[in-house]
Amino acid sequence: MTDTMLRDKVAVVGGGEKNLGGLVSRTFAEAGAKVVVHYHRSESDAEQTVKGIQEAGGQAVSVQGDLTKVGDVRRLFETAVDTYGGVDIAVNTTGMVLRKPILETTEEEYDRMFGINAKAAYFFIQEAGRRLNDHGKIISLGTSLLAAFTDGYSTYAGGKAPLEHFTRAAAKEFADRGISVNMVAPGPMDTPFFYGQETPERVEFHKSQAMGNQLTHIEDINPIIRFLATEGGWFTGQTMFPNGGYTTR
Ligand SMILES: NC(=O)c1ccc[n+]([C@@H]2O[C@H](COP(=O)([O-])OP(=O)(O)OC[C@H]3O[C@@H](n4cnc5c(N)ncnc54)[C@H](OP(=O)(O)O)[C@@H]3O)[C@@H](O)[C@H]2O)c1
Repeated sequence: MTDTMLRDKVAVVGGGEKNLGGLVSRTFAEAGAKVVVHYHRSESDAEQTVKGIQEAGGQAVSVQGDLTKVGDVRRLFETAVDTYGGVDIAVNTTGMVLRKPILETTEEEYDRMFGINAKAAYFFIQEAGRRLNDHGKIISLGTSLLAAFTDGYSTYAGGKAPLEHFTRAAAKEFADRGISVNMVAPGPMDTPFFYGQETPERVEFHKSQAMGNQLTHIEDINPIIRFLATEGGWFTGQTMFPNGGYTTR
């Protein structure tokens, strides 16, 4: 049933070249969706993801873009419409993490963190709202730190926090076209994104906070994104915390 629901749909995946976004791109394509794989700096990952999809008989194109630039966000969706005739699903997996005390955080770091985690996320939702066909789906990636009380992640958790409100407002504003808008906020995920900011001791602590003493895996999150993009359309305006019990609220 799910496959039928993705077949011939057009999906834009922000950060769709690697890690979680790469898996989402491949999963959608395997189910018959046409995928626009956005990438920022990782051209070779994007090429590999698109090539893998095409070799398996699927359809995909890649588009480079710095999504902190609104013009690049618009060009991404424009490419989807020009290439495949419309867009049905928009998943934004882009983000940037920084673990640093408030007293040491520079203005430049603050601007960079809010640029990608908040501004880019906002204009991605805006452009999706303009471009999506009726009954489309918009899914953004947050973080389970939004349900935590911790130090060090002020510009990361703080930068992702506005997305909850962008999601709620967009869910109301796009509801008349049947477009659902949600945020998926995973626990610490076993990708290079996570490890750069953490010590081995802290990694063990993060593991100890979830079921089975483990981190979240991209394979835990992918089915939830797929569900929201298909049968899960009755969810809208929500933030979900798939994290094995790491945090809740
Ligand atoms: N890994 C975790 O522990 C974890 C936990 C909870 C939530 N998340 C969230 O899950 C999402 C996916 O994370 P991931 O672990 O799969 O890591 P990832 O692959 O590194 O995802 C981040 C993506 O954002 C892109 N990006 C960064 N700056 C950009 C910019 N200015 N313009 C356009 N794209 C930009 C990156 O591209 P470049 O690398 O080329 O810059 C990359 O494709 C992120 O939103 C993250 O915040 C991650």
